[in-house]
Amino acid sequence: MDDDRRFDTTAIATNGDTAESGDVVRPIHLSSTFELGALDPSVGLDDADPAAGEFLYSRLSNPTRHALEERLAALEGGDRAFAFSSGTAAVATTALSVVEPGDHVVAFDDLYAGTRRLLETVFEDRLDVAVDFVDATDAETVAAAIEPETSLVMMETPTNPLLKLCDIEAIAAAVGDDTTFVVDNTFLSPYFQQPLDLGADVVVHSTTKYINGHSDSVGGAAITSDDDLAATLEFHQRVGLGDMLAPFDSFLVARGLKTLPVRMERHEDNASILATHLDEHEAVRAVHYPGLDSHPQHELARKQQSGFGGVLSFELDGEFEDAQAFLEALDVFSLAVSLGGVESLIEHPAGMTHEPIPRETRLENGITDTLIRVSVGIEHPEDLLADLERGFTAIERTDAPTTD
Ligand SMILES: Cc1ncc(COP(=O)(O)O)c(C=O)c1O
Repeated sequence: MDDDRRFDTTAIATNGDTAESGDVVRPIHLSSTFELGALDPSVGLDDADPAAGEFLYSRLSNPTRHALEERLAALEGGDRAFAFSSGTAAVATTALSVVEPGDHVVAFDDLYAGTRRLLETVFEDRLDVAVDFVDATDAETVAAAIEPETSLVMMETPTNPLLKLCDIEAIAAAVGDDTTFVVDNTFLSPYFQQPLDLGADVVVHSTTKYINGHSDSVGGAAITSDDDLAATLEFHQRVGLGDMLAPFDSFLVARGLKTLPVRMERHEDNASILATHLDEHEAVRAVHYPGLDSHPQHELARKQQSGFGGVLSFELDGEFEDAQAFLEALDVFSLAVSLGGVESLIEHPAGMTHEPIPRETRLENGITDTLIRVSVGIEHPEDLLADLERGFTAIERTDAPTTD
């Protein structure tokens, strides 16, 4: 691949995409197995080199997945990428590749709820791993939590749903050589943030979100430039766990990637317009968006990100029922979990993603009854603003005194 190419060009195609039959688009190779030609007992299953066009069995490697993995590595600035069947599979496989029973893990206390559940239920409860969830908005708190047994530092920035940041460079400086520093880059994609450049050892993604971008595939990825880690991840993806991404999904993600730069620009433009509007609205108590001057870590966002992204959250000034009335009145926004697709999605953490968590704990963690998370799509911003107004009007009607 030509290293001089800009991000937007690499997102469209690598040379490998057109190698075989002249197709401008890499075909979907659905075959589960590949003809070997001759019996050669000296050639093992692990000897096939996908980069040389050698394929044996699709769990091990597949031409469509391989093309996607090459492009993901190039875009994230890493040497190797591995595509998984979900973001959760990418996180779990990465953690299982570095953590052993008896180890210690330091994790952001505002991680995506599923990642937190994975660390608690699989690593703490079943593998005898101690996990400390810390306020990683302060890098010194992370540094202080690292112990000699710490094998994994698991971060995400910005977080879901409160858009808190952690300082990747400062944390990387505090993490020793025996500890693996993993950053979940799902919220910004490699277009707006490059954690490997800032010192992370591995970047993980839910490709379900911005990288695919069309809400029609569930997938994940892990990218690294560390040879030993890459070898372990590759073994687990192909052999140990076999949780790789299927060919059809690999095709969809590779197709989505081509428009990542233009989508991200538009997501951000729209999110900034909405965040500014909500920030000035009298019915809104708080807006969480790193692009606002009022965000407590706005300066850090400017330092380590090249854009502010398309997700924001805000708190209505009211009660649970007001949030309900607001959400029910919306027409353009879909009430749905997930994020990063071209369509605007809206969700209510207290009533949806964080509903299983006891209310007291939720409130302690800032997940109030009126917190609303928005994944701002790429529709016309005026239609999105008009839809929000529909929501605010519905609250006013609910609050109005009845005449009888
Ligand atoms: C930041 C983040 N990481 C990981 C995941 C898990 O990804 P998946 O749903 O593809 O397993 C999600 C899903 O919402 C997420 O938001």
